[in-house]
Amino acid sequence: MIRPVLIDTHAHLYEDVFIEDRAEMILRMQSAGVAKAFLPNVDDTTIEPLLNLCNRYPELFIPMMGLHPCSVKENWKYSIAIIEKALFTAPTRYAAIGEVGLDYYWDKTFIPMQQEAMILQAEWANELNLPVILHSRNSMDDLILLLSRKIKVNRTGIFHCFTGSLEQAKRIIDMGYYLGIGGVVTFKNANLPEVLKAIGPERLVLETDAPYLSPTPHRGKRNESSFITLVAAKLAEIFEMPFSKIAEITTRNALKIFNQSDLSIE
Ligand code: NI
Repeated sequence: MIRPVLIDTHAHLYEDVFIEDRAEMILRMQSAGVAKAFLPNVDDTTIEPLLNLCNRYPELFIPMMGLHPCSVKENWKYSIAIIEKALFTAPTRYAAIGEVGLDYYWDKTFIPMQQEAMILQAEWANELNLPVILHSRNSMDDLILLLSRKIKVNRTGIFHCFTGSLEQAKRIIDMGYYLGIGGVVTFKNANLPEVLKAIGPERLVLETDAPYLSPTPHRGKRNESSFITLVAAKLAEIFEMPFSKIAEITTRNALKIFNQSDLSIE
């Protein structure tokens, strides 16, 4: 039997929490059948570790470039200028613009700047014909409005770590986007399984957001890409489908979004 191939569409594997055992973590990822992981940037300080890791394992890790909404602070114009330079110096290097979006959870001071940064980075996505990786927290309706009224992204994208309502899920899919599903779907009391059951698996991709949001039974501990099998297993349970079918659908979607269909996956 051929082992199902999985893709982690969102993982911060370059972060320092993996410094001690990154090689072992990567072996576990490969043993779990995770063929590739797409790594989103956060701010100007993460570019170097991100690119170092991707350069070391070019078959496994593909970088994405953008400024995270939580990093839109007083000095955001400085950060975004550095990110813009990294992006436009090697535009073919990146599989997407990300992660970008709106986050109203921590600090509401910078909401107008977050929106400005989102619009600017959506313009980059259109200029370079790249998809967008979208972060939203307590801001889903605003992000949907912004992407439907203020700027439309020509290529598709992923609403990363989707935890919204059925109505929001339908709207996102109608707009041509995909939903990134991670550890939250395994949490007790999550209403996400009900929402997903109603929309079906066809517009879903898998993600970990490692080192954050570990699936049950690792909740609260460091997450890693091998744990994505727990997310896929939960989706198999929700949709009453074989694990291999979930792997097939989500991997196909990920390759399509990132325009990687030409890359052979072992
Ligand atoms: Ni993230």
